[in-house]
Amino acid sequence: MPETVLKIKTFGAASLRRRAKPVEEITEYHRDILSKMARAMYESSGVGLAASQVGIDQDMIVMDIGSGLYKLINLRLVKKEGQQINLEGCLSVPGICIKVKRAKKVMVCAKDENGKPLTIEAQDLLARVLQHEIDHLKGKLIIDYASLLERLKINKKLKELKIKSQDEELSESKTKSCQLQL
Ligand code: NI
Repeated sequence: MPETVLKIKTFGAASLRRRAKPVEEITEYHRDILSKMARAMYESSGVGLAASQVGIDQDMIVMDIGSGLYKLINLRLVKKEGQQINLEGCLSVPGICIKVKRAKKVMVCAKDENGKPLTIEAQDLLARVLQHEIDHLKGKLIIDYASLLERLKINKKLKELKIKSQDEELSESKTKSCQLQL
């Protein structure tokens, strides 16, 4: 079993840019990781967390927008509809807030931690979180949505984050400039 406490990786960590591998067979290992991911998410006051954010290249996420915890494996976005634009933060890019255009409604197929197939129809915030986490599973981050102007504004911060992530000492700097941390 891996370490007891999972550390959330921040910008600069290679795992954040890796594409997640589908989980072939769901085992105790995956259930254990999902529980630890949920703990890490709650401890950081986040509403979503993807496995790549804790350095694991498996297609798994946890999320809780206040209406219950989801532990999802092998996510597939099958339908999207409409549009919503809002500010998003990310536990892996602390201190940065980006305006991201997302679909308003989504339908996602996945498996729960026992391998049971699920279909989730979500809208608004829940749909936003799902899209954000599915991005993580593809190695995509909110900063990839930044406009040229936003990019110029956040470049310095990103450089700092990159240096800090090499030091692995970022846990102290929990600067939150964004309400929504995913
Ligand atoms: Ni995120």
